[in-house]
Amino acid sequence: MTDYPLNKGAYQPARLSVAPMMDWTDRHCRYFHRLLSSRALLYTEMVTSPALVRGGALHLLRFSPEEQPVALQLGGSDPAELAEAARLGAEAGYAEINLNVGCPSDRVQSGTFGAVLMRDPKLVAECCAAMIKASPIEVTVKCRIGVDDQEPSDVLPEFIARVAGAGVSRFSIHARKAWLQGLSPKENRDVPPLDYDLVHQMKGLFPALHLSLNGGVTTLDEAVAALERGMDGVMIGRAAYHQPGDILMDADRVIFGEAALDRTREDVVRAMLSYIEQHIDGGGKLGQVTRHMLGLFAGQPGARHWKRHLSENAHKSDAGAHTVLDAIDKMHAARPVL
Ligand SMILES: Cc1cc2nc3c(=O)[nH]c(=O)nc-3n(C[C@H](O)[C@H](O)[C@H](O)COP(=O)(O)O)c2cc1C
Repeated sequence: MTDYPLNKGAYQPARLSVAPMMDWTDRHCRYFHRLLSSRALLYTEMVTSPALVRGGALHLLRFSPEEQPVALQLGGSDPAELAEAARLGAEAGYAEINLNVGCPSDRVQSGTFGAVLMRDPKLVAECCAAMIKASPIEVTVKCRIGVDDQEPSDVLPEFIARVAGAGVSRFSIHARKAWLQGLSPKENRDVPPLDYDLVHQMKGLFPALHLSLNGGVTTLDEAVAALERGMDGVMIGRAAYHQPGDILMDADRVIFGEAALDRTREDVVRAMLSYIEQHIDGGGKLGQVTRHMLGLFAGQPGARHWKRHLSENAHKSDAGAHTVLDAIDKMHAARPVL
């Protein structure tokens, strides 16, 4: 039996999670987010099971233990391949394996994955059953409320019932449909209207399941309201990425009822410096880390100067920790003297 030392489970942390976001929630982003909240559950970008299993792209699974709890999101629709990918994810130490049934990209070279699977709950159930059998850690699902001309109030309960029947007890539901034709992935995150009421109704129908609401939540107050209305968790994507200081720094206190981390935003920047130095020593570029930190001071005096200095300098060949400290100085210099 393989030992999974890093897996501490993710049921409690799922009360607040940062959504999986391709090209955004990479390991550098998650390391940074973890310094802002010790409790929130963090998701990887989607990794497709063909890339892992057929392509052998195991480097996609690398992460720092400090990021835990981290959930690995998989994309795919072949039960055997997803099972193997889930096994690899568990072996790599992830706290949870999540299946993507929400991305609006339909057929790609690597096969079917994402929201199109809302049309095939039986296949999703088979995939989940295979993943659960292959992996000792929890398997969860992220889905939409429906796609195209489906009637969400019909298909969503049927979908959840089927997939829960395969052994999944935790779902994150993006509270809008995806239109598989005619809308870009970006439009599919804004154009189809949100239907929070329907997601809340699912909690009433399936009280034993752990259900998280996703889509359009932009403040911790809104997250608290959804929890108070009965949801088990809230998943936040874009707002957590663009205003990580506002969403994540208060999360331990507001969402988890713990003491807030005794850290200012600048302390977090300073805590990132050794990670940044290691990354650069290993051949990485400053901008690969700092691009996720541009919104840290959003709404604070001088934030524009922080962002501008990093945007203009982080790609330079001699950029390093000193560039980050300079960006803080620029921000201070732009603040009014009281
Ligand atoms: C840049 C970007 C990339 C995304 N990539 C994924 C992904 O890989 N897997 C997934 O399930 N959802 C993905 N999403 C959707 C988010 O997880 C989330 O469901 C969506 O943004 C709605 O939540 P929000 O309104 O809080 O941002 C992505 C969203 C964005 C903005």
